[in-house]
Amino acid sequence: MHRSRSIYIETYGCQMNMADTEVVLSILRDAGFARVNELNQAGVVLVNTCAIRENAEQRVIGRLGDFHHYKKTNPEIIIGVLGCMVERYRKDLIDSQEFIDIIAGPDEYRKLPALIESARRGEKGIATRLSRSEKYDDIVPLRKAGLSAWIAIMRGCNNFCTYCVVPFTRGRERSRSRSSIIGEVEDIICQGFKEVTLLGQNVNSYRDGSNDFSDLIGMVADVDKNLRVRFMTSHPRDMSDKLIETIASRSNICKYIHLPVQSGSDRILALMKRSYTVEYYLDLIRKIRSVIPEAGLSTDIITGFPTETKDDHKQTIDLLQKVGYDGAYTFIYSPREKTKAWSMTDDVSHEEKNRRLEEIINIQRGISLHRNRSMIGQVTQVLVEGISKRSNSDFCGRTDTNKMVVFPRNGNIAGDYADVRIERANSATLFGTQIHAVC
Ligand code: 5AD
Ligand code: SF4
Repeated sequence: MHRSRSIYIETYGCQMNMADTEVVLSILRDAGFARVNELNQAGVVLVNTCAIRENAEQRVIGRLGDFHHYKKTNPEIIIGVLGCMVERYRKDLIDSQEFIDIIAGPDEYRKLPALIESARRGEKGIATRLSRSEKYDDIVPLRKAGLSAWIAIMRGCNNFCTYCVVPFTRGRERSRSRSSIIGEVEDIICQGFKEVTLLGQNVNSYRDGSNDFSDLIGMVADVDKNLRVRFMTSHPRDMSDKLIETIASRSNICKYIHLPVQSGSDRILALMKRSYTVEYYLDLIRKIRSVIPEAGLSTDIITGFPTETKDDHKQTIDLLQKVGYDGAYTFIYSPREKTKAWSMTDDVSHEEKNRRLEEIINIQRGISLHRNRSMIGQVTQVLVEGISKRSNSDFCGRTDTNKMVVFPRNGNIAGDYADVRIERANSATLFGTQIHAVC
């Protein structure tokens, strides 16, 4: 492969961005490009960016600085920036950083081959339009072989939570057709994948004609009973009884729900425009646990949202304790231009935000430890992912409730299912020994 046709790509941010990178690679492969893993073999360097929080952008900006430096000694390379940061800065990005040759927003990836050609002729390639219809339905993502595949079932978001930049960087919500999703599921099964994660900013508002997300996930699960099906992210408002029952009804739909609550204070939830109250949310958790008692539950929490008081913070801690999540992703509030919250005063000091974050992390760690220890003595089924990072003689894999399990290697290979008896646990990992199933 000639260097000018070689692509080096780095991806930052969420799983949606990882899935988008596979779409980008597919489009470029069809135009005669190939991916390389080493920067020094590449003629085109692409960075798929994230804009969700200031620190995510800072990481990308730091990395772009490295590529700028590299370009000084390799002036022929083309540097392209993709994804959410492109929609935040648009043309300013290319005007202020002259080493960038191409910018392409999340709905403009079909133009990449043409943008690269124009950059080679010395013209800057700029494509930043958001679309109401682009779903890349006909593009088969170029995936690395493995156990787990992502399928983006929808794009964009219409919720406009007041802190969130996603509706501005990814545009309006669009669902892909059910038939193209099912086709892709059949495809990944043929390629040997054992697990699929259905992705969207708000998967449970999926709709294709009369089919909603519960219909879709049921159909995906029915394609092959041996395929594990995961999904993320769900909005509490759209978590219907029908969806909970569908998850319970199929053994291969993983009993794991990521259900971001963001705050435990009704006042802050209203300011965030989350459209539910703590009482509604706790009811939902009760409903999930009554139908799926073993469900693994995780959440997202933002700490230090404008006007958040010590009492609001305490209510968030109360909620963590009431729910007893298996895990939580915790973030310090980061003001984002264009959002509604941008015009609210960011009045919680940096030190206080950090203090609250640390407290939440510590409390959640204790809850996760307690939840994990309660599994000691139980036998749980694990999809073997491969050799554990900690030790060559151990395997690791996940339960369908999304818990990481480490156990001594026992002749099986990645992709096998193993029944493991849990013997000890810390807040992040379960440890055990494989037992042989009794037939
Ligand atoms: N500041 C901090 N966290 C944010 N998130 C989204 N926007 C912001 C922001 N401006 C968090 C939310 C969301 C997760 C993906 O990122 O918790 O669920
Ligand atoms: Fe952002 Fe809210 Fe949409 Fe999630 S649901 S992407 S937090 S606007």
